[in-house]
Amino acid sequence: MTKNSKPLLVANWKMNPQTIEKAKEIASFLDNEKVIFCPPFVFLSVLKETIQKGKIGAQNCFKEKEGAFTGEISPVMLKEAGVKYVILGHSERRTVFEESSKEVNEKIKAAIEAGITPIVCIGESEECNESEEKTLLCIKEQLQETLQDVSVADIIIAYEPLFAIGSGNSCPVDLAERRKIIIQELVEDKNVAILYGGSVNSENVSSYLKEGGFDGVLVGGASLNPHEFLRIIESI
Ligand code: PGA
Repeated sequence: MTKNSKPLLVANWKMNPQTIEKAKEIASFLDNEKVIFCPPFVFLSVLKETIQKGKIGAQNCFKEKEGAFTGEISPVMLKEAGVKYVILGHSERRTVFEESSKEVNEKIKAAIEAGITPIVCIGESEECNESEEKTLLCIKEQLQETLQDVSVADIIIAYEPLFAIGSGNSCPVDLAERRKIIIQELVEDKNVAILYGGSVNSENVSSYLKEGGFDGVLVGGASLNPHEFLRIIESI
C-alpha cells in the first residue's frame, strides 16, 4: 500500500488478553481511527462491534480458502468476519512455528486474493547481526522469498528486527531508518508503506515517525497497557 497521510498504529495483541471482557475493555478504551486492532481470532467477531473507529486485523491466516486443514483459518473466513488486515510472517510465526518465507508468501497471496491487506513482517534474526553485510543479505533473501510475485502496492511492510521484539531494547532510530531505505531500494518502490516494530513505547514512537520517516508502528506489549497505548495514540 502506498503511504498514507496519517500514520498507522497497529496493535498486535498476540495471545492476549485471556478473557473477552478484558479484550472489550481495552478496545473500547482505545478505539481510535488511527488504530488497527489485531486481537486473537476468537475475539474478532465480538470486537468488531466494539471497534467503531479503528479497523480490525488478524494475526495469521492459512493459504487455502477451505478444506481439510484442521485448526486453520482461511482468509476468506476472515474477510467474512469483517477483517481488513492480517499480520503475516511475524518473527514469532517464523521462529516458534517454523514458518518459512515460502509459506508466508503463499499466505500473502491468499490474503490479497480474499481482499485483505497483509501487514508483512520482515526482520533480521540475531544470527544475521554478526556483520552489516550479513544483516543486509538476510533482509534481502527474506524479502525476495517472502514477496516473490507479490505487488508491494497490495501490502504494508513492517520492519521488525528480532533483537527489538518484546525486549525493551528498541532499534536505534538511525539504524531502523537505514534499514527502511534498504527495504525501499530492494522492493524498488519509495512509496510503499513501511512500519517499524520492536519495543515501541510512548517515549520513542514519535522519533520513528518523525526522524525515522516510518509510516506507522506495530506495537506488541504496549498495546495491551491501555494508559501507555493511549499516550502512544496521543503522541502521533
Ligand atoms: P513489542 O512487539 O512491541 O512487544 O516489542 C512487537 C511485535 O511483536 O510486533
